[in-house]
Amino acid sequence: MSFDLTCKVALVTGGGRGIGRAIALRFATAGANVVIASRKAENLIATAKSAEHLPGRIVPIPCHVGRPDQLQKLVEETERSVGPIDILVNNSATNVGQGPALEVTDEALLKTTEINVLAPHRLIRLIVPKMIERGQGGSIINIASIAGLRPQPEGLAYSFTKAGLIMMTRIWAIEFGKHRIRVNAICPGLIQTDFSEYFWKDEEYMERLRQTQPLAYLGQPDEIAGMALYLASDESSYVTGQCMVIDGGATAR
Ligand SMILES: NC(=O)c1ccc[n+]([C@@H]2O[C@H](COP(=O)([O-])OP(=O)(O)OC[C@H]3O[C@@H](n4cnc5c(N)ncnc54)[C@H](OP(=O)(O)O)[C@@H]3O)[C@@H](O)[C@H]2O)c1
Repeated sequence: MSFDLTCKVALVTGGGRGIGRAIALRFATAGANVVIASRKAENLIATAKSAEHLPGRIVPIPCHVGRPDQLQKLVEETERSVGPIDILVNNSATNVGQGPALEVTDEALLKTTEINVLAPHRLIRLIVPKMIERGQGGSIINIASIAGLRPQPEGLAYSFTKAGLIMMTRIWAIEFGKHRIRVNAICPGLIQTDFSEYFWKDEEYMERLRQTQPLAYLGQPDEIAGMALYLASDESSYVTGQCMVIDGGATAR
């Protein structure tokens, strides 16, 4: 058993910043070759550059995960540049529908669903049949959220899609277990990234967090990366269909 990922290939969506970047760097430190994919090439290239001294390579491939043709190309280019995929991290997400439930438009709900739920589903349909064919197992890690476990205030679209991703994680785990393809979700609480600045820039919200959260500080992307490494590695060989909550104890109450 080991946390070593030498000779493994990982695909991390949204790996150019935030949690995805921390995961990609942690995987490359453990020896994996990692493709990172999102829309903004400059972030991807900067992340790849910062990994030049690490044992594993980071390869940037620009991709809009809401576009099926781009997902197909992403998988083909990944296989061409670093080989068949052993580890998939579905990390890219959007939250365009924040606000009162009655104000959530069809467009916002559809867009959130397309990026947060359909893109992981499409990637799994592109990658898992090949994992099955190779017969060497695999690890899929879906970055969900505690908002998928309990309702996020005024977060109908976001909570709905993250709850969906958690349920899909369990269904995929049940179906793929016989091929030793493990599927797990990570549910972060509030982590300091661009995505969540609406919350952590709100001083009242932060004061409440400091008063009520057992670990009374704002989580950092690196605090998610260790769990992703565990789930990607052989150390979690008997773990599938689970939801790992990393939230400073926020949901313990
Ligand atoms: N931060 C938190 O408090 C928190 C809490 C719970 C769960 N999460 C989850 O953690 C994951 C990572 O978020 P983060 O906090 O690290 O935020 P972030 O730094 O804003 O990262 C979001 C990533 O998603 C990518 N992305 C967005 N739309 C995309 C699209 N259409 N195609 C491809 N990539 C796209 C972005 O890249 P481009 O802009 O370059 O496309 C970016 O790399 C998300 O699944 C989020 O739901 C975060």
